[in-house]
Amino acid sequence: MSRIAYVNGRYLPHSDAAIHIEDRGFQFADGVYEVCEVRDGLIIDLTRHLDRLDRSLRELRMASPMAREPLKLVIREVLRRNRVRNGLFYLQVTRGVARRDHYFPAAGTLPTLTITAKSVDPQPARARYETGIKVITVPENRWDRVDIKTVGLLPNVLVKQQAKDAGAQDAIFVDAAGKVTEAASSNVWIVSADGMLVTRPAEHGILRGVTRTTVLDVAASLSVPVEEREFTVEEMLAAREVFLTSATGSCVPVVAVDGRTIANGHPGSVAAALRGAFLHIAEKTPI
Ligand code: PDD
Repeated sequence: MSRIAYVNGRYLPHSDAAIHIEDRGFQFADGVYEVCEVRDGLIIDLTRHLDRLDRSLRELRMASPMAREPLKLVIREVLRRNRVRNGLFYLQVTRGVARRDHYFPAAGTLPTLTITAKSVDPQPARARYETGIKVITVPENRWDRVDIKTVGLLPNVLVKQQAKDAGAQDAIFVDAAGKVTEAASSNVWIVSADGMLVTRPAEHGILRGVTRTTVLDVAASLSVPVEEREFTVEEMLAAREVFLTSATGSCVPVVAVDGRTIANGHPGSVAAALRGAFLHIAEKTPI
């Protein structure tokens, strides 16, 4: 079955789905995006993802391509046309097409909206939950506004590859004060030596992950004590558990950081419990 993409009002085969060479997403990374998970035919946390999209657009003074309800219809249609039961959709909005010029284009320039969807085999993710992953730490070198979900992901791409080259699966950014910010495409959590679930506050230095927000709800529902505070690499190395959250993997256990084993080297029980309860708490929207 051929994949179908949505591009500015049209549903096209992937091979024909294209954007203009002077699209500002292509020229300047002048665009924002969302990735949303689909499980068993249910879209996970759609409202929170669309709320964050609205925020990203507002922060960049970018026009919204479509009102919320028609946008939801298009998302569902893309998922249906691609027969996705388990997988994700990817949505991107850019400031549109204009002759290359750093200034914003003329008012009225239409934003570009593209949506793709793909099926993802859940098995490899399950295997990762069983074994855990290895990560490296890298100096934070991104811009100040990582709270906006922009397509400007070059530092993230470079450190992810650096991790792969080092035989690890992911990279965790560490700021100049030695505090963990987030991973290349996920938020970072630890279970501290005294049993607290700890994650960095989302005010500054990280993206406010939708999965992060829902995991906080899950923790509350399970009466797991939580502290939103910064933590150092040393504290992470001494933690009982380390795990990562994102829309493409809820609570992925980390078993080694920079070649040093976390706890006993096996995925921990808190991450497993949070993951187990996640779908009960998350918003689920039928396709
Ligand atoms: N990444 N931090 C960064 C830098 C991210 O790119 C992501 C998501 C997150 C987690 O956010 P959420 O829980 O809303 O997915 C945190 C997506 C999955 C991606 O770029 O593919």
